[in-house]
Parts: sequence; C-alpha cells; structure tokens
Amino acid sequence: MRYITMALAKGRLAHSTIELLERIGITCEEIKDTSSRKLIFVNEELKLKFFLAKANDIPTYVEYGAADIGVVGKDTILEEGRKLYEVLDLGIGKCRMCVAGPSSARELLNHGGLIRVATKYPNIAKDYFYNKKHQTVEIIKLNGSIELAPIVGLSEVIVDIVETGSTLRENGLEVLEKIASLSARMVVNEVSMKMEHERIHKMITDWKEVLQNQKEADGTGGR
Ligand code: PRP
Repeated sequence: MRYITMALAKGRLAHSTIELLERIGITCEEIKDTSSRKLIFVNEELKLKFFLAKANDIPTYVEYGAADIGVVGKDTILEEGRKLYEVLDLGIGKCRMCVAGPSSARELLNHGGLIRVATKYPNIAKDYFYNKKHQTVEIIKLNGSIELAPIVGLSEVIVDIVETGSTLRENGLEVLEKIASLSARMVVNEVSMKMEHERIHKMITDWKEVLQNQKEADGTGGR
C-alpha cells in the first residue's frame, strides 16, 4: 500500500483539522508538538503522511500531486484557482468574504464610481467587481492588517475576511457587501481521486458521518 499524503494549512485551521482527523481515527501525535521543527509526519499503521504548509500553497501541492489531499479555507481555494476537486465542506473556520469600509463608502459602491479596493485577495476582488458587479475598480494588493487601508486613506474599501466582525467594529468600519460564505474544505488531487479512490472515499464518508452526528448533537441535523 502506498502512502497517502495530506497537506494541512498552518495556523488557526491546523488545530481544528487535527481534531477532526482524530474523530475519524486518524491520529498523528508528532504533528501536535509545536516545538518541533520537523516538516513531515508519518502514521505508519495507516500509511499516511502529513505536512503543514502555508495556506496559500496547499492548492498548489494538491494540484501537482505532491499532496493527495489538502485541508484549506474556501478563501484560499477561490483565490488560488487551482485544478483540484473540492469534495467536502468541513464546517470549521466559518467566516465571510466581504466588501467593508466606512459607512460613507456605501454610496460610492452603489453609484459604481471608480474606487480603490485594498485586499489580500486580488483575484477574488477582481472576480467580484469585474465579473459580478461589472464595476471598474483599482485593486491594491496588501499582505495583512487590511483594515488599515481605508483608515489611512490608501483605499475607499477593502475585500477581506470577517469572522466575528470585531476588527471592523473596533476600527469604525462595517460590512458593505457580502461576497461569499467561507469554511475549511477537503480538496483532492484529480489523479489521486481515481488511483486511491477507495481510501479517499472512505475518508470522505467517515468525515461526512462525523459532521452529520455533530449537526444532530447541535440540534441542526438535516436542516
Ligand atoms: C483576519 C482578517 C481580519 C480578521 C477578521 O485577519 O483579515 O483582519 O481576521 O476577524 P474578526 O472579524 O473576528 O475580527 P488575520 O488575523 O488573519 O490577520 P491579517 O490581518 O494579517 O490578515
């Protein structure tokens, strides 16, 4: 049996992904040791390998088959636009991709004026403004703390992730338009899906069952 390799996104999603893996009997103690500098971890019994990588790189590893499976946010999947199968919504890391800014920017958005949009997600912003809204905007790529941009006058609005909304609130900004609902997804390499169908399919089925049981326990089953 060959190894199946899983790429997990580093950061806030990693912990919940590992917990979710444990619930379908896939364990990897080593990966939980945060002091370790090791990059790749192995579960010999299940013939699985795991590695943690930057979220943005996960779709690349999966498209090229360096990882058979990946767990990554829908924001990254949309932004990277790689060729892969998105097979399951894991329901963790739920948040929204939004256009946000000061309330005064609402009018600019509604009237289709030429505005500047700061974002870490230029492809998502382009697709939204150009293809969906048919509005010409200037996209300014930033790498973090996006909320700063309208405050210091770099842009009129931002396209960014909103989870609790507290970063926006604490900076006098608000959600102006919602672009998409986001959460972590399981993605699979197109060739691996065929070659390792049985093992990958089992994983999808096991995860679906865990998620369904979770929904029922939360009282939201089937609704
Ligand atoms: C993300 C996002 C927002 C914030 C939203 O930033 O870009 O800034 O979280 O969360 P909230 O709605 O719960 O306040 P992150 O912390 O990942 O850092 P970044 O600013 O460097 O992108």
